[in-house]
Amino acid sequence: MKVLIVGGAGFLGKRLASTIATQGGLHMGQVAQLTLVDLAFPEEMHKDGSFKCIEGDFSEASVMQSLIEEKPDIIFHLAAVVSGEAEKNFELGMRVNFQGSLQMLEMCRSRDYHPRIVFASSCGVFGGDVKQTISHTTGPKPRSSYGTQKAMVELLMNDYSRRGFVDARSIRLPTISVRPGKPNAATSSFLSGIVREPLNGQKATYPVQESAKFWLLSPKKVIQNFLHAANIDAGKLGDDRMITLPGITVSVEEMLQSLERIAGPKVAALASYEPDEFLQSIVLTWPPYFDTSVAESLGFVKDNSVDELILNYIQEEKIKLPNI
Ligand SMILES: NC(=O)c1ccc[n+]([C@@H]2O[C@H](COP(=O)([O-])OP(=O)(O)OC[C@H]3O[C@@H](n4cnc5c(N)ncnc54)[C@H](O)[C@@H]3O)[C@@H](O)[C@H]2O)c1
Repeated sequence: MKVLIVGGAGFLGKRLASTIATQGGLHMGQVAQLTLVDLAFPEEMHKDGSFKCIEGDFSEASVMQSLIEEKPDIIFHLAAVVSGEAEKNFELGMRVNFQGSLQMLEMCRSRDYHPRIVFASSCGVFGGDVKQTISHTTGPKPRSSYGTQKAMVELLMNDYSRRGFVDARSIRLPTISVRPGKPNAATSSFLSGIVREPLNGQKATYPVQESAKFWLLSPKKVIQNFLHAANIDAGKLGDDRMITLPGITVSVEEMLQSLERIAGPKVAALASYEPDEFLQSIVLTWPPYFDTSVAESLGFVKDNSVDELILNYIQEEKIKLPNI
């Protein structure tokens, strides 16, 4: 079986690739070829013999065409211009997030080739009334260009599946925390930074008040959910291919209290409030309350607590608690 990861050098793409390469986990068959495409790859990924890295812009027709000609059985579509960048650069977001994804679907349709596609959508497709509990039947109502682009692609994934052109599943990711490495251009970046930086002995800021709540999932569980989305039988999904992933509702205050329990008050005190109107205008429109019983009954998973989320990060990244 051939597997393609679009956006394979990203935070989640890289993890997904190494999980598939080392553990398999895909029920459709043995992985004989694992190909990743991204704008650029670090040297160590090129040298890793367990997958092939192709550098290119998937929204360019020639790049996507050569990938599609290989006829991968499963395509994980994770490439995106993330939320903050898509809001600041509208043309780039539309070209990559929307037109690139539409072109991928059209190339499959016009070649009469029907891969299974797992599309990384986002809970950013919801917005507005943050007091409302989002359920399986709540329709998208994005309040950002990124959320709008994701919602448009989800609808296309649904319709191309209904018509039998592809077999797609769109999983709506909560904010993934704690993300290792450096801050990124996602407007949710601070939701990792306020844990990661203090655990590294560094200061961090959050742009919203401590009472603000968010819908979170750990990197470990989201990778399990990507694999599950690829494995789930199409018959169980029917015509509705949009799955809002389970997560936990956590306030900034609860994250800092958990950090204090785990690493002590001096570490937690390294995070402080620094209001940012641009970030507030986006992240405070994301609903934090979800009823994901349908996704859970389909076998999608979540973390049990914010402590588990932080402890997982410390364990996975082998973080030594700062001595302050
Ligand atoms: N991490 C989160 O909190 C979160 C939350 C909701 C949704 N998502 C979605 O999950 C997916 C993966 O997220 P991530 O956190 O790994 O993001 P990321 O930014 O680390 O990875 C995305 C990758 O896509 C690549 N990419 C962008 N444009 C490209 C192009 N034109 N051609 C080829 N590659 C291109 C980037 O270079 C990057 O490596 C994204 O689609 C994102 O929108 C993530």
